[in-house]
Amino acid sequence: MNSRDIQQYVKKNFKANTIQCSAKYHWHLVLLFREVCRMLETVEDTVAKQAAQQARRRLHHQQDNDKHCRVILENKSTCKIHIRRSYSFFKQFGINGPPPMFILGNFLDFVRTKRISVCIQNWTAQYGNIYGYFEGHTPILVVSDPDILHEIFIKHFSKFHSRRQFPLEDRRMHKGVHLFSATGNQWRRQRAIINPSFSILKMKRMLPIIDDSMATLIMKIEGCIKTSSEGFDIYKLYKSLTMDLIWRCCFGMKTNMQNNPNDPYLKRSQEVFARENSAYLATLLAIFVPELQPTWLACHCWLNYIKANLRRLLPMGERLIEDDPNEWLKDNVECFIRQAYLSHNHNHNINDCNGNITKSTDLIHLMLDATEKNSTVTDQDDSNERVLSLNEVKQNIYLFMVAGYETVSTALAYVTHMLATHVGEQKKMQNHIDSFLKVYGILDHEIINKMEYLDWFIRETLRMYPITPIIINRECAEQIDLPGIGRISPGTKITLDMYSLHYNNDLWGPVDTKQFYPERFATKRHPMAWVAFGAGPRNCIGMQFALTEIKIAIIRLLQNYTVLPAIMNDNDLDLVELVTISPKQVRVRLEQRADK
Ligand code: HEM
Repeated sequence: MNSRDIQQYVKKNFKANTIQCSAKYHWHLVLLFREVCRMLETVEDTVAKQAAQQARRRLHHQQDNDKHCRVILENKSTCKIHIRRSYSFFKQFGINGPPPMFILGNFLDFVRTKRISVCIQNWTAQYGNIYGYFEGHTPILVVSDPDILHEIFIKHFSKFHSRRQFPLEDRRMHKGVHLFSATGNQWRRQRAIINPSFSILKMKRMLPIIDDSMATLIMKIEGCIKTSSEGFDIYKLYKSLTMDLIWRCCFGMKTNMQNNPNDPYLKRSQEVFARENSAYLATLLAIFVPELQPTWLACHCWLNYIKANLRRLLPMGERLIEDDPNEWLKDNVECFIRQAYLSHNHNHNINDCNGNITKSTDLIHLMLDATEKNSTVTDQDDSNERVLSLNEVKQNIYLFMVAGYETVSTALAYVTHMLATHVGEQKKMQNHIDSFLKVYGILDHEIINKMEYLDWFIRETLRMYPITPIIINRECAEQIDLPGIGRISPGTKITLDMYSLHYNNDLWGPVDTKQFYPERFATKRHPMAWVAFGAGPRNCIGMQFALTEIKIAIIRLLQNYTVLPAIMNDNDLDLVELVTISPKQVRVRLEQRADK
């Protein structure tokens, strides 16, 4: 029944009613009837208007849809043009390189070789010392000419002070950025605060702590020798050792990681470098569509947030759902800082080796001191003042936990493998160590520094087995003319090919670079020939600490044992590459030295 039908119905009934009703009600009914008709007309009007509006809206929507389709199509073609234009990036310089695939760039080559650094080395062999490849459609310039690298990493450092952003790396100021990811002044400020933690004085103070942890390592080794006569994986023991050392030397906390391999911090740090852990999909999206990096990052954060809550709320959630080890470490760093802060306030001063009271200078306390000077300022990007925000402290603790533990344990594993597989060099090293210990009796910083062959042995190992080639890269901050390349603009990403540098016979001859020959370090080489710890002002801040740890470990190991390959062992290491290149395991047998 529409409004007109209702009107007629009411009119009809009204006539019928007038016969029966009195005049008094008659007038009221007339008024009521008028009112109803007016209302119905208004309703009809409104309905009609709404219908018209809806029709209009539908029409607009249709037009909008058409417009959207047009915009999407236009955007699609703009994207295509953008991506195709990116692929012509190196043509302007006349630089060659492997041909990219649309959207994927040269990604499939990485998948095929399974090792990014080996793939890069193969390309260098094919395209020379300067070429370009594409991650998605992001152009990456690869340079292995040591003179050009010198210009980039050392001479013009002010124009190449930052690294390129990793996919999914969060560089938002309010969350705090750590030293590794910091850029420009932010990096200068942080490096100035953290540098004193690794001074020579600090190294000297760390020696007794390192030596004490070595005593625990030797006890663990004794246990393994007794239980596994055919050999055991010494790399596992090194991982607990180096985590112990980071905590004790950098954070001033006494730990027992070597006796507790299930320590949650140790386990999570191990997971950070595990292949299965990486957030594959989000990382791939960030590589292929870097323009939407904030979106992928937000999705990644949300997913972690949801997973963390499900783990907490669901029965068996902790077992069924894996959390992100990076996030776990970052979250738990807070209670870690609280502990350190308390011990800092209660025990601000320490006794030095001569019994004098001095101020604690380990990394965490230096950083906390820097926050005390500045508890209110949050955005210090351009500040030259030596201050840190609490978020930056958190980020750096997380960074040092993961950066200092995996790298050093892996280096120790490689050195042990070289000892096991190079009998002559091992004997030479044992004699070398014995001769120093016989003369000086004790191990101090000066004596360790005098042990040249030990130093060469470690450097030669890291030449042949570099650990972190892919993290050495720089992003151009200001336009510059580079010899052999031309004018490059801000944002250009440059990486070096560590394998090609380390295995370049022109830089390392006359003994072939495939041969393990520590004495090659007796000759002065090009400053960019050996880059195991990076190069220039932004090289590895923990290099001296790492070398000291490795040296003391090897001295204590060879003082007591001779290293032999495990029975039924394949002498070639099975290497896995993600952020670091590490062996799956290093199985050895240790024989008590007969002459000791
Ligand atoms: C064998 C052991 C190690 C190796 C091979 C290694 C290697 C590297 C490399 C190649 C870089 C990049 C340098 C560049 O871009 O030029 C780096 C940076 C860094 N490393 Fe290490 N590292 C080792 C041990 C350590 C340790 C023990 C720590 C901390 C205690 C550490 C902390 C850092 C930090 C914080 C950075 C960033 C420095 C900056 O950007 O200013 N590393 N490392």
